[in-house]
Amino acid sequence: MTGTGLDGRTAVVTGAASGIGAAVAARFVAAGATVLVTDVDEPRGARLAESLGARARFRRVDVTVESDVESAVAEVVERHGRLDCVVANAGAVGRWRFLHDTPAQEWDAAFALLCRSVLFAIKYASLPMKAAGRGSIVATGSVAGLRTGYGPHAYGAAKAAVAQLVRSAAVELAPHGVRVNTLVPGGVATRIVGHGAGLTGDRLDDSVDTVRAGLRSLQPMPRAGEPDDLAGAAVFLASDSSAFLTGQEIVVDGGASLGREWPADATRMAARAEQRPT
Ligand SMILES: NC(=O)c1ccc[n+]([C@@H]2O[C@H](COP(=O)([O-])OP(=O)(O)OC[C@H]3O[C@@H](n4cnc5c(N)ncnc54)[C@H](O)[C@@H]3O)[C@@H](O)[C@H]2O)c1
Repeated sequence: MTGTGLDGRTAVVTGAASGIGAAVAARFVAAGATVLVTDVDEPRGARLAESLGARARFRRVDVTVESDVESAVAEVVERHGRLDCVVANAGAVGRWRFLHDTPAQEWDAAFALLCRSVLFAIKYASLPMKAAGRGSIVATGSVAGLRTGYGPHAYGAAKAAVAQLVRSAAVELAPHGVRVNTLVPGGVATRIVGHGAGLTGDRLDDSVDTVRAGLRSLQPMPRAGEPDDLAGAAVFLASDSSAFLTGQEIVVDGGASLGREWPADATRMAARAEQRPT
């Protein structure tokens, strides 16, 4: 299927060799966009771009390197004369650590990868977008930035910071026709967990099935999130269907962040009430 809302548009997607970013790139191309697939994983990114056909290209971009992000934006503007969307999506979980055992350099690395990278994307993408009077920037957040327990301290803090950066950027850029939103995944079956555990090759690819099974009961909806669940929302955020939507966190988590599972508590409370002497 082609041409469902992004016809003639151009986009840069970071962290697009795998998982959510790969699904976003594929959905964008299917919706009619031309996409610069970017990642540090060159073989995988190049394979994906090739599989997506003539409207996809790969470029190596390390989102922690400012000039890499700047050059990716410049490439799209030079080739196509326009940049309509950037999805700042690259990320990794990092190590789970207690507070007293959190080294400053790991904290800084998490913020550089997860949050400063979003600043770079906004900083460079907003220039041609402002000049054109239109554009959509999407940052990938996390339920770990909304609730405790979904990621290490540094990861959750960096993702929460992304949402605030998006809000303040949205206000600065709104008068120029540029929208900025955070796409917030819950538990999604990707290689991110295996990658964090140091797996490589086939073992890393195989880990996705294990993660999918493990995530089944994380949220009220009894299945893991899939990259395509997020990709559909990303197409919406990139398209004119969301023309009046900016600065928001669009949570796509099967209900994971809504709160505790009430039936279990209700059963316990009812049992306690029955035991109470009258
Ligand atoms: N999978 C989940 O459950 C989940 C939940 C909440 C948020 N997220 C977020 O979604 C985004 C995508 O994660 P995913 O689950 O698709 O993981 P993934 O591991 O499948 O993909 C992440 C991609 O980012 C790339 N990457 C890592 N460091 C990079 C760098 N410095 N520069 C460029 N690319 C880099 C990796 O090579 C990889 O291709 C991340 O920001 C992640 O924090 C994921």
